[in-house]
Amino acid sequence: MDATAAATPFSTLIRTASHEQHTEAETSSFMSDLLGGRLGVDAYTRYTEQLWFVYRALEEGAQALRGDRVAGPFIRAELMRTAELERDLAHLRGADWREGLEPLPATAAYAARVAECARDWPAGYVAHHYTRYLGDLSGGQIIRDKAERTWGFARKGDGVRFYVFEGISNPASFKRDYRELLDAVDADDLEKQRVVDECKRAFALNTAVFRELGEVFPLSA
Ligand code: HEM
Repeated sequence: MDATAAATPFSTLIRTASHEQHTEAETSSFMSDLLGGRLGVDAYTRYTEQLWFVYRALEEGAQALRGDRVAGPFIRAELMRTAELERDLAHLRGADWREGLEPLPATAAYAARVAECARDWPAGYVAHHYTRYLGDLSGGQIIRDKAERTWGFARKGDGVRFYVFEGISNPASFKRDYRELLDAVDADDLEKQRVVDECKRAFALNTAVFRELGEVFPLSA
C-alpha cells in the first residue's frame, strides 16, 4: 500500500477499490433483466433462494464472532436477514419452501467462502459483511421498489421483507456509523489491503451467482 492509500480512511479505500466491480454486478444481464421487468417472478424467487444460502452462512457465522475484536462491532441484530428471507420464501414458494431447495454451484461456493472466513479469518468476514449489508441498505431499496411494482408484492410486505430493515429507521445515518466502524477497524495496513482484496472477491462471488442465474433465465443472451 502506498502512502496515499495508507492515509485514506478505510471506508473510502474499500468503496473505491470495489467501485468497478459494483458497476459490473449492477449491470450484469441477469440484474438488468430482473430490474427491467423482463423476467418472471420465478427468476426473482430463484434469486431470493440464493440469498438465503448466503445470509445463512453470514448469520450463522456471526454468532461466534460477536466477541471478536475485529468483526464483533459489525454484528448487529437489526441487520440480520435470515428470518426475513424465510418469510419471503414462504410467500414465494409456499410453506414447504425448504423442500428441494438447492444452491446454484456459484452460490454454494460463495456461502462456503463466507463460512470459511467466519471460522478462520474475522477480518475477511468483515469484507463479506460490508459487501452484502451496506449494499442492501443502499441499492437494495431500488431493488425492492422495482420488485413491488413488477410482481405486485405489497409495499414492504411478504416477498420483499429481505429489503426492509425494521430496526433501522435512518439508513443514511446507519451507513455513516458503519463507515466509522470500518475506519476504526483494528488492523494494520497490510491486513486492510487483504480485506480490500477479499471485498473484491466477494463482489466476484456475487457476479458469479448472477452469471449462473442468467444462464437459468437467459433473456439478453
Ligand atoms: C442492480 C443492483 C444494484 C443497484 C441498483 C445498486 C445501487 C447502489 C447504490 C445507489 C448505492 C449507494 C451508493 C452511495 O451510497 O454512495 C450502492 C452502494 C453499495 N452497493 Fe450496490 N447496487 C446494486 C447491486 C449491488 C451488489 C450486487 C452488491 C454486492 C453484493 C452491491 C454492494 C454495494 C455496497 C457494498 C455499497 C456501499 C458502498 C459504500 O458506500 O461503501 N450493490 N449500491
